[in-house]
Amino acid sequence: MKFFIDTANLSEIQEAQDLGVLDGVTTNPSLMAKEGIKGTDAVMAHYKAICAIVDGDVSAEVIATDYAGMIREGEALAALDDKIVVKIPMIRDGVKAIKYFSDQGIRTNCTLVFSAGQAILAAKAGASYVSPFVGRLDDVSQDGLALIAQITEIYGNFGFHTEVLAASVRHVMHLVECAEIGADVVTCPLSVITGLLNHPLTDIGLAKFLSDYQKNNG
Ligand code: G3P
Repeated sequence: MKFFIDTANLSEIQEAQDLGVLDGVTTNPSLMAKEGIKGTDAVMAHYKAICAIVDGDVSAEVIATDYAGMIREGEALAALDDKIVVKIPMIRDGVKAIKYFSDQGIRTNCTLVFSAGQAILAAKAGASYVSPFVGRLDDVSQDGLALIAQITEIYGNFGFHTEVLAASVRHVMHLVECAEIGADVVTCPLSVITGLLNHPLTDIGLAKFLSDYQKNNG
């Protein structure tokens, strides 16, 4: 299972890259706003900075919601770097844009997916990734992980090449259960990735080993 970090924060991306387990980055307009990145030139420069850090795919989201606008923005984003994957919302013109980009050999990530039907449509259009939002479904009392399992099964039935990218992954157990289900990718904050390190018995065990070493070696 690939690990993507869901942030536009360059320090966090660098930290995850340095840990040696990072496979890519996902961003969205909210995450760019959180970093104070505004204006087309600054946004483009920021994507280039992200691509310079990470050794893997970088999802960059279009702002337009009409077909022509999405094509224009997506082509400009894709031209920035081979690592760029154009992120397109699951709307009617978005599906058409995904099909266009797929025909052009430009990779896409279909975002804001909340149902199996939407995921089937994204795969039929040729999306490289589909992003179901686990945490946001949990927020409204629907089982986000059940959707990941359902999409994974459906894609397996038909051999779709679209990768299931579990998004809105909020905590360690989301990530572990995505791994059990067989999601292709999870994207999550740095805290979820580093949270995988934690177990009190590891800390207790290491302290004991070190204190026994000190006693034995003076
Ligand atoms: O990848 C989508 C993600 O950014 C949404 O996460 O926690 O805002 O639902 P969240």
